[in-house]
Amino acid sequence: MDYFNYRDGQLFCEDINLNELATQVGTPAYVYSQKTFEHHYDAIASAFAPLDPIICYAMKSCDNLNIVKLLAARGAGADTVSGGEVYRAKLAGVNMKHVVFAGVGKTDAEIRLALEAGIGYFNIESEAEFENIASIAKQMGVQANAALRVNPDVDPETAHEKTTTGKKESKFGVDIERAKRFFEHYGRDENLRLCGIHLHIGSPVYIVEPYVKSIQKALTLIEELKTTGLTVDTLDIGGGFGADYETGRTPDFAAYAAQIVPLLQPFKNAGGTIILEPGRCVSANSGILLTRVSYIKMGGTKKFVIVDSGMHHLIRPTLYDAWQFIWPTKVAPMHVPAKRAMEMDNPSLEVCDVVGPICESGDYLAKGRALPPVARGDLLAVFTAGAYGSVMASHYNTMTRPIEILVNGNEHRIIRRRETYDDLIALELEAEPASV
Ligand code: LLP
Repeated sequence: MDYFNYRDGQLFCEDINLNELATQVGTPAYVYSQKTFEHHYDAIASAFAPLDPIICYAMKSCDNLNIVKLLAARGAGADTVSGGEVYRAKLAGVNMKHVVFAGVGKTDAEIRLALEAGIGYFNIESEAEFENIASIAKQMGVQANAALRVNPDVDPETAHEKTTTGKKESKFGVDIERAKRFFEHYGRDENLRLCGIHLHIGSPVYIVEPYVKSIQKALTLIEELKTTGLTVDTLDIGGGFGADYETGRTPDFAAYAAQIVPLLQPFKNAGGTIILEPGRCVSANSGILLTRVSYIKMGGTKKFVIVDSGMHHLIRPTLYDAWQFIWPTKVAPMHVPAKRAMEMDNPSLEVCDVVGPICESGDYLAKGRALPPVARGDLLAVFTAGAYGSVMASHYNTMTRPIEILVNGNEHRIIRRRETYDDLIALELEAEPASV
């Protein structure tokens, strides 16, 4: 569900005509809908309300300060994975007690920054990391909370192996047997209070069963630890809830909550704290990438639609074979899409590859895609691009990144200005000769 809809053949974001907006701000542009962000955040908060969870928005999915700010204003905490994200969360006014810090390779500098900021929990990935954080906390004379990331060995059946994390072979977390020994060994540390279990099985996870299985395993572990005198009072179930890349693709939050809430209610009622880390399900449908057709080219019998964006702005198709719905922003009545789907039943579509300007054959946004006829100068929207879009963009080929716009009703705001070539080379110009 989102607020990107066609009116009289023209695509609108809320009450803004995107053809007019593109003329004003240029392309490529990421355009976000504030209402959609708010709708999804509120929907997950209300579905899980019986557990009164801390909702740590996964900033990695879309980390623009203005967006984190608007979610923080609605009560969101943050799931962070670097010192940079902790820094952003603080600037955005997130309640630092509602910040979790994950990641397998936290550096000493990042750990100090997070301890100084007073974050809620470190999500711990290994024995060596626990010892390091505990020793830095001791040196600094501070205390912090930790949750151990447990790898429940459940197959989340994500679309791509690169986004599966909860299986035994993953670099993330420790397996259940090792988790028991971990708690026995470190569960009584005074500076780093090991009081939580963290799960995150993959992304996106379109079915509820893997959550159920992994939560059941975690609850069993918590019971076993209790018998040895170790208390786990926090359970972080991670993120990974799906988004509607196709209309109706993902279960709604109520469907996830219907199975997860009853499972966790006894833990909650016994005084436990529940944490969720949703990213994509909040941000994906909240943003689109607007790109203009530069040229149409035939290669043999194949039609290429060459646009002013590509893998440097949205790498998901190249990296994960991800499918994103693409459609012109201005269409004839017969081409107004009734839904976003892989198969669009319309005889007058033309199959083409939508490709970018980068010097790589992997630079495409869509392959073999049926689209209404498009011509040079037309504007295309790549939908469901709010998550893992702008954040994964690069400057490859010395290309600037897209401008970012936040729409609210009939108003829009530039929330990341367009870069200049001078921005791109500024850090290199400052470089000075140095000797080791
Ligand atoms: N928590 C942890 C520990 C995570 O590693 C992630 C995502 C999340 C929460 C949020 O997952 P979400 O709710 O957004 O699905 N770049 C890939 C996705 C990578 C996900 C990484 N971790 C993509 O574009 O599909």
